[in-house]
Amino acid sequence: MDKKFNSHLCQIVTILSDGEFHDGTTMGDALQMTRSAVWKTIKKLIAYDIPITSIKGKGYTMTVPLILLDPQKIKMELDNKKLPITLFESIGSTNDYLKLKKKAKGPEICLAEQQTQGKGRLARKWHSPFGQNIYLSCLYLFQKDISELAGLSLVVGLAVINVLKSYGVSDQLFVKWPNDILFGQKKLAGNLIEIQAESYGESQAIIGIGLNVNMRNEELKEINQAWVALSHILNCYVDRNELSARLINRLFQYLHHFNEFGFAPFHEEWLKADSLTGETITIKNVRESLSGRVVDINAQGHLVLRLANGILRSFSSGDATILKKS
Ligand code: BTN
Repeated sequence: MDKKFNSHLCQIVTILSDGEFHDGTTMGDALQMTRSAVWKTIKKLIAYDIPITSIKGKGYTMTVPLILLDPQKIKMELDNKKLPITLFESIGSTNDYLKLKKKAKGPEICLAEQQTQGKGRLARKWHSPFGQNIYLSCLYLFQKDISELAGLSLVVGLAVINVLKSYGVSDQLFVKWPNDILFGQKKLAGNLIEIQAESYGESQAIIGIGLNVNMRNEELKEINQAWVALSHILNCYVDRNELSARLINRLFQYLHHFNEFGFAPFHEEWLKADSLTGETITIKNVRESLSGRVVDINAQGHLVLRLANGILRSFSSGDATILKKS
């Protein structure tokens, strides 16, 4: 069941985040809640896998740092203060929520603390534990035909890279066509674009971004590929409110530019961050699996391969695996 945000949850997390013990009665008095309502909220946090210790006579304490998402804090930092933001405590998928908006009038954002059906490209699952990462979807209307949107996921990747650089991360940060953000060989973020509707040269796109921010190591077993979180790279806890605001601002700048000028102005920026150019790869899509050397990204954002027989082929979609590291 989708759950909109419960303000008591946020208030209790704020109290417990000082690392001290707090008893139910004192917290209840401070928040004008009954002791049993406090207990219910604590039980909910435990169900969300937030490590909370309780000691009889002392109360409760939280043993990990946690700052929950707060749309007000995010909005304060946005270039567009009127941008609608909906935050869910828990939802199936933020992309699926925005897909319900048929014929939207303008852009909007959906964020969630947890996704129970988070999805990645090629029907993969996107692991989305509560309160740790960013699960963000953006609905955006393009004055473009669907055929002109092949470069969109690349542009979104570049916007994410740009934000990560603003945190001082630059070495070893790569984009991997078409949608991965890697730190070294490990996945840090990905995006999932779903084009929802199109008519008369307009397209409504849902742009989903998953960014590993404060993901804890115990989540290791749930993910079947090498991953890394921003907090591991920076060696500190990262406030997701500030990060979300930076991401939304940068994303809209990149999307407006792409809407107006297409992928061509981003070509150079892509090549600088790209991990595949010059590599020998295998590309798989629903129709075929082919190997070749990556020579470029074309003006549409398609991957250009030189096959073994010397022929150049471009691909608008697919999954790329490096065969031989150059
Ligand atoms: C990938 O790398 O395969 C894409 C991952 C995209 C995950 C994000 S999280 C927010 C949005 N909602 C989803 O269900 N998926 C995207």
